[in-house]
Amino acid sequence: MPESLLMIPGPTNVSERVREVMSRPQLGHGSPEFTEKFGETLKLARSAFKNDKGSQFVFTGSGTVAMEASVASTIQPGDSVLVLDTGYFGQRMASINEAHGARVSQLQYPLGTHADPDDLRRKLQGDKFRAVFITHVDTSTAVVNPIKELVAECKDAGVFAVVDSVCGLAGEELDFDRLGADIVFTASQKAIAAPPGAVLIAVSNELLEYFQERAKPIQGWYLNLLRWKPIMDDPKMYLATPAVQIMLALREALLELKEEGLEERWKRHRALAQKIRDGLQRRDVKFVAEEGYRANTLTGFVVKDGIAPGVQKELREAHRIEVARGLGDYGGKMIRIGHMGILSAEQADRTVKAVDETLAKFGVAASVPVPGNRGVNQA
Ligand SMILES: Cc1ncc(COP(=O)(O)O)c(C=O)c1O
Repeated sequence: MPESLLMIPGPTNVSERVREVMSRPQLGHGSPEFTEKFGETLKLARSAFKNDKGSQFVFTGSGTVAMEASVASTIQPGDSVLVLDTGYFGQRMASINEAHGARVSQLQYPLGTHADPDDLRRKLQGDKFRAVFITHVDTSTAVVNPIKELVAECKDAGVFAVVDSVCGLAGEELDFDRLGADIVFTASQKAIAAPPGAVLIAVSNELLEYFQERAKPIQGWYLNLLRWKPIMDDPKMYLATPAVQIMLALREALLELKEEGLEERWKRHRALAQKIRDGLQRRDVKFVAEEGYRANTLTGFVVKDGIAPGVQKELREAHRIEVARGLGDYGGKMIRIGHMGILSAEQADRTVKAVDETLAKFGVAASVPVPGNRGVNQA
């Protein structure tokens, strides 16, 4: 029986080391052993973001908590914000902003296309916004947005840039200090390869100052980043009981990331993404993300109408491989394969082979190679 393989876009497979740490006897959240380890986790998180200059936050929650904490801390009711909507998580960002009383404008992009820095420049020349919200990799389409160029436009216009890198950080190149964004956040369960349950947020000094100076104080309590700041400065302090095992698991996963090297992890993600896409192109499938903007952390492709649930079931039952379907309207038409975290080349090969066999079983034709063209099904 082959090992079961989690090939969804998060949570991802975790190592034995991470699993072992979670099974140890319970530690008190105020114990010297835990608070020391939590302090180390914060330092390791800084390295994963390349954040030497700004503030670093780690606390309990899923990625959505990081989204809402960013909004609650940055936005005052009545503020105008701009959301770059390249998919499901851009829409969620718009909805969270609305819930916090922001006036939301959106630049909306067709499914599978990237947010265009030229559009952003034009929009920022015309209107004033408190902040622009950018999704690094939208997990619903597997599009990677050009964050360097997008953030540069925000900086030129003097507007805060908030980057959701839940499905990017550690798998896609990102250097917080150089990028110049005001917030970048991620969650533990994706390319960092820890279990779900922790958010990691980097905040620029300029935005932190703004938190202190805003006319209306930050609404919300748990989601108020200013309230967390003293705990991040002194992990012995208490605000709310952390998910102790998850934090210890996160520390272990971040140690593994450090041992591999951040740049090496980016490189491995690039290579594995290419391997998966090359393999998929043996069949007549259409990638959702446009060429040139395909993420290194996951791949989404469209299959014949109605077969996605069957493909998913067959992969689970016959191959012990779990893949995801599309989100929302694309549930029946799309398959998404996560290839992030600690995935090995062998596991990627096994996935490609199993998906190829399964698609063949569901009548998806082999693709016909076109001379001089490596992939016939470029979206
Ligand atoms: C890009 C992006 N943002 C936000 C989230 C929300 O994270 P969570 O499901 O952990 O709340 C996800 C989850 O997959 C995501 O992919």
